[in-house]
Amino acid sequence: MRMRAAVLEEFGQPLVVQELELAEPRAGEVLVRLVACGVCHTDMYTASGVDPSGYAPTVLGHEGAGVVEAVGEDVTDLRVGDHVVTLFSPQCRECEHCLSPKTNICLAIREQQGKGYLPDSTARLSRPGGEPIRHFMGTSTFAEYTVMPQIALAKVSPDAPLDRACLFACGLSTGLGAAMFTAKVEAGSTVVVFGAGMVGLGAVAGARLQGAERIVCVDLSPQRLEMASHQGATDVLIGGPDTVAAILEMTGGFGADYTIEATGLVAVMRQAVESARMGWGLATICGVAGKGETLDVIPRYLITGRRLAGSSFGGVKGRDQVPQLVQRYLDGDIDVDAFLSHRITLDEVNTGFDLMHAQDGIRSVIDFG
Ligand SMILES: NC(=O)c1ccc[n+]([C@@H]2O[C@H](COP(=O)([O-])OP(=O)(O)OC[C@H]3O[C@@H](n4cnc5c(N)ncnc54)[C@H](O)[C@@H]3O)[C@@H](O)[C@H]2O)c1
Ligand SMILES: [Zn+2]
Ligand SMILES: [Zn+2]
Repeated sequence: MRMRAAVLEEFGQPLVVQELELAEPRAGEVLVRLVACGVCHTDMYTASGVDPSGYAPTVLGHEGAGVVEAVGEDVTDLRVGDHVVTLFSPQCRECEHCLSPKTNICLAIREQQGKGYLPDSTARLSRPGGEPIRHFMGTSTFAEYTVMPQIALAKVSPDAPLDRACLFACGLSTGLGAAMFTAKVEAGSTVVVFGAGMVGLGAVAGARLQGAERIVCVDLSPQRLEMASHQGATDVLIGGPDTVAAILEMTGGFGADYTIEATGLVAVMRQAVESARMGWGLATICGVAGKGETLDVIPRYLITGRRLAGSSFGGVKGRDQVPQLVQRYLDGDIDVDAFLSHRITLDEVNTGFDLMHAQDGIRSVIDFG
């Protein structure tokens, strides 16, 4: 079939919206008609060419939600008409990692996905009558349609508006999950969240859902801190070199039970470690640091009982837990509307990058109409 998609032709250049060919789903694959797709930092990061694992040409986009249009052979879990959220972090339910409750990092299709191919090592995307185009993050959702493996699609309630549901495909679930599934924040505890973008605000909401008593959010932007208060932060702080001292002062000199980093800055990651509580504080890192950067930790902080964890997609097992998180939104537990700041068309996708660059709003969402 023919469809329109935003192609990263060359790093550092605007995406080019054009007609592409999309082949039919093969065994285990599903054709999805996108209804909405958020614009995330990872898309912009790859488009800039800074990501060492990036490739071009490719169709970017990974925060998608849509409707199943057709299924290939051996697709047992999804039917035409189902509402789905795309998963850059799949869940095969069979590999060693999927069978373990300790991780959400599925091993089934990692290698092929990283190279830009579907699980059988080929692409469904191509230029009309011409060269194949690689898939991005196994999703390529800056497009009217996509073909994805069924293990990378979460079936969600048809009651959830898809322009809200798409935010659960990346940033929001990452933040919620970091607090709920990686840190497993306990009721009554003190949590510090560094960063009040999509991920940090999700972590604030996740900490609230876990019953945290005190939630401190740190950011540079007073507007974003206001949003953090709305999502459940009990205290807010403007970040800076004295943040650790300020948090120690707020916590009787000990530090917080849980700290969650959502900035991508290694200096802030260090603050997250140093403001975790002596004895048992757990620092959870969500941010993606720049190429070659390293995290400086004085070992004494760890020996005295602080722990450090990393979190990919918030530790969320996508097919099982994204539908549950969407249900919590439908139950009124999470205000997702507050995150949706701009609606744009596919042709305006580069405007989405500009808005993100200017820190205008939390999420721009492409509405495919
Ligand atoms: N682990 C994952 O699976 C995963 C998934 C999605 C995004 N991410 C990463 O998470 C990070 C956050 O993503 P986002 O979309 O929320 O980004 P964002 O840019 O919208 O938010 C980052 C926030 O950090 C704030 N900040 C900057 N300096 C600060 C400081 N010194 N102290 C406190 N706050 C400071 C900024 O003001 C901004 O509000 C990024 O690095 C992103 O790449 C990781
Ligand atoms: Zn993302
Ligand atoms: Zn798996």
